[in-house]
Amino acid sequence: MAKTILITGASSGLGAEMARQFAALGYDLALCARRTERLDELRAEILAAHPDRRVEVRQLDVNDHDRVFEVFRAFHADFGRLDRIVVNAGVGRGAPLGTGKFHANKQTAETNFVAALAQTEAAAELLRAQGSGHFVMVSSVSALRGMPKHITTYAATKAGAAHLAEGLRADLMGTPIKVTVLYPGYIESEMSARSASTPFVVSTEKGVRAMVAAIESEKASARVPAWPWQPIGFALKHLPLPLARRFM
Ligand SMILES: NC(=O)c1ccc[n+]([C@@H]2O[C@H](COP(=O)([O-])OP(=O)(O)OC[C@H]3O[C@@H](n4cnc5c(N)ncnc54)[C@H](OP(=O)(O)O)[C@@H]3O)[C@@H](O)[C@H]2O)c1
Repeated sequence: MAKTILITGASSGLGAEMARQFAALGYDLALCARRTERLDELRAEILAAHPDRRVEVRQLDVNDHDRVFEVFRAFHADFGRLDRIVVNAGVGRGAPLGTGKFHANKQTAETNFVAALAQTEAAAELLRAQGSGHFVMVSSVSALRGMPKHITTYAATKAGAAHLAEGLRADLMGTPIKVTVLYPGYIESEMSARSASTPFVVSTEKGVRAMVAAIESEKASARVPAWPWQPIGFALKHLPLPLARRFM
């Protein structure tokens, strides 16, 4: 039987490309996001390339928390099991703290942290009941340190999301349920296209290939692509703030 993977935020960028690459690896797909026309197009594209795959799509705004549980359970019912669940949906809006843009920072905090909590709860419930499976949280290298300017809130949400997943891993240690946290560097997507500066950016295809390899090997955590984000991540985490700021 084909393995199944649920990916949130699958309508563009990293989520859509993960769907393409996991379909090529033989996975059946459960895909959700708000823009269903994008999901329908992606479904058609994947089925044209891999006619044996099964692709189910559902509309989901992850800030509608009841609906998160509903959609995850419905996908589980579609396939009978979910081998992997990837919490990927996210936004990158934000502004320096105290500059009158609380609304933008709050929207990022709600989508990237509170809604990530809802997705983690819904996923953990299904994986615990199944007794097996793999949970993946898409964090960011920005989570490794408090970040200045417009990404302060974004980075804090990604640190919070990473800790949620690590806590879940601590809880589930010794069980067949695995947990991975990914810390991507800059990868081309709608989100990174809106950033003023994207040092060392790689193509969506290349960046997601590194993400998929880390997921497939069920690593506890991975900074991806490893070069240059492994050493930059180390510097960010361990240098005194006045020096670490140079990498931000
Ligand atoms: N690209 C990078 O350089 C980079 C680096 C580190 C981490 N990340 C993380 O990677 C993840 C994917 O981002 P991306 O770069 O691929 O950006 P993207 O192209 O903007 O994709 C974001 C995805 O999240 C979905 N999404 C946003 N808000 C949502 C909501 N309220 N409900 C449901 N889905 C929602 C979007 O779908 P709809 O708009 O259709 O709902 C879209 O599919 C994010 O968590 C991001 O923080 C990206």
